[in-house]
Amino acid sequence: MVGLRHRFESRAGDVTVLDGVDLHLDAGDHAALVGASGVGKTTLLSVLGGLESPQEGTVRVDDHDLAGMSRGELATFRRETVGFVFQHFGLLEALTAAENVELAGSLAGAAAGPRRRRAAELLEAVGLVDRARHRPLELSGGERQRLAIARALMNRPRLVLADEPTGNLDERSSTLVMGLLESLPAGHGCTLVVVTHDATIAARARRCFRLSGGRAIEEAIPV
Ligand SMILES: Nc1ncnc2c1ncn2[C@@H]1O[C@H](COP(=O)(O)OP(=O)(O)OP(=O)(O)O)[C@@H](O)[C@H]1O
Ligand SMILES: [Mg+2]
Repeated sequence: MVGLRHRFESRAGDVTVLDGVDLHLDAGDHAALVGASGVGKTTLLSVLGGLESPQEGTVRVDDHDLAGMSRGELATFRRETVGFVFQHFGLLEALTAAENVELAGSLAGAAAGPRRRRAAELLEAVGLVDRARHRPLELSGGERQRLAIARALMNRPRLVLADEPTGNLDERSSTLVMGLLESLPAGHGCTLVVVTHDATIAARARRCFRLSGGRAIEEAIPV
């Protein structure tokens, strides 16, 4: 189960970004996180994923209590438990697509054989087999986004956090990327949180939270 309760204050000047966010997700949930630009959606994902320590409150993912963790423990947590599909969370330009995916596995200590097989399997799943030797700069935006998903899944994360994964994509690539992400909760039992400005993408989630005034409020999914 992935359950999280969380209260966090970050100062941008003297602005509190998250002010008593309280949300709980079950394992296998697919949640959309929406809200105006600058309300703190990326910040919230960063705290959920252990990229930033919660300043106040409790963040729990499975039986990991993030607030009590050292930097090293957070790094291990990120590597083993979380898959990030973040636009700024860069793919390494010097590595090929396949190497980018494999690297996530080597960092988590996976042996070379299984690592290579898993990377090949994931590249196939995201439709990039014939781009395996390309470097990220030699890929289109949608292909890079799919590569980021493959890399995020390398270590079979319990929690996948996607920050505007279809932000710069055309409709077709966007549908492909969302299809891939949405297959995760059903197929792998992992929890998926997708930040989006796109109402039709939010409507595909099982639950939707709107971040506003530092709090997350659950909304009905439009039918
Ligand atoms: N490291 C930081 N230091 C100071 N302020 C920050 C920092 N990171 C974010 N902020 C501020 O926190 C607020 C929330 O930022 P965040 O990136 O979480 O917003 P967002 O909801 O993801 O917006 P967008 O939809 O535009 O991506 C913004 O006002 C931003 O300027
Ligand atoms: Mg953002």
